[in-house]
Amino acid sequence: MNTAEQHIRGIIERDTFTRVEILYLLALHTKDELDYLKASARAVKKQYVGNVTWLRGLIEFSNKCSKNCLYCGIRAGNQGIDRFTLSEDEIMEAAAFAYENRYGSLVLQSGEQQNKEFIDFVCRITSAIKTKYDLGITLSCGEQTEETYRRFYESGAHRYLLRIETSSPELYRKIHPDDKIHDFETRINCLHSLKKAGFQLGTGVMVGLPFQTQEDLAGDIKFFKDLDIDMAGIGPYIEHADTPLYQFRNELMPPEERLLLTLKMIAVLRLAMKDINIASATALQAIGKMGREKALQMGANVIMPNLTPEKNRKLYQLYKDKPCLDENAEQCKDCLEKRIAIAGDRVGYGEWGDSNHFNNKRK
Ligand code: 5AD
Ligand code: SF4
Ligand code: FES
Repeated sequence: MNTAEQHIRGIIERDTFTRVEILYLLALHTKDELDYLKASARAVKKQYVGNVTWLRGLIEFSNKCSKNCLYCGIRAGNQGIDRFTLSEDEIMEAAAFAYENRYGSLVLQSGEQQNKEFIDFVCRITSAIKTKYDLGITLSCGEQTEETYRRFYESGAHRYLLRIETSSPELYRKIHPDDKIHDFETRINCLHSLKKAGFQLGTGVMVGLPFQTQEDLAGDIKFFKDLDIDMAGIGPYIEHADTPLYQFRNELMPPEERLLLTLKMIAVLRLAMKDINIASATALQAIGKMGREKALQMGANVIMPNLTPEKNRKLYQLYKDKPCLDENAEQCKDCLEKRIAIAGDRVGYGEWGDSNHFNNKRK
């Protein structure tokens, strides 16, 4: 057995690992090693979560954001885009599409706003959807108080996505404005509050950020394990021209390398946390034609077909080359069905597709 095999088997069998082992796996590069990593991640996926891809219809319901993350295209400081919030009717229409097409679950995502009107709106649409349709709801509306998270939960959402973006406090500081509202500790506290409120917890990072090291990424995997997350979203960082981080574009890894490193992170996370849900992020497709299929083959098991009305999609561009800008919900559905079949999975229609990890913890 070569060393790559030993390390991979070690992680699978022991269920513990060191940063050094993760670093070793992230550095694998020969075709044989990568094939073995992929086959192992695939086998673990099959055994612990099945060869099933769950769908979450994604509704990007507002691009208004009070924050200024240095990487993001809808940051408050970008005055070049019109700001929108979908109406309740538009959201209900998207939810109806998800229900009729047996998607099972929705993700309601927006920029971060903490005013009462916004919070009330989120509660209202969540409970309106839950009253009418049997759909699982994941929220992704940024940092909120513990009290607000409780209200969201009581409205009927049961999963929440809040990426840590990077588990390194130093790197976090470099990719956010240096002020009190972009604070690493606050983000960590929010993740704990979400758990306390009862949510299935999803977090994640961007891969290929300027200044990011392999040690940072190995630390991210450790961070996920220590926090005992239920779901992960790991996607490549993609530069956006109207953001401050764009100035470092020449220092980035080439897109193919960023894609490969993201796929390795997904595979290693599947080995490290066997029964969690891992999303095949849309950004993967922005840097690689078959990015999302490849992620499903490397251990991811969730895809988010876009349900945002076509006229609003262009106004919700966190990064450049966002896919599906000119497609509608129907076209994305057909396209993703094919992609999932290519990856060798079946689609988990008509079920919420909750994290096995969350359910296993409660047993
Ligand atoms: N490239 C890739 N992902 C991005 N996000 C924001 N901006 C970018 C970018 N330029 C991701 C962040 C955020 C999620 C909603 O979108 O990780 O948490
Ligand atoms: Fe706002 Fe989220 Fe973009 Fe940061 S990443 S600017 S919080 S939408
Ligand atoms: Fe939208 Fe392929 S997923 S067109």
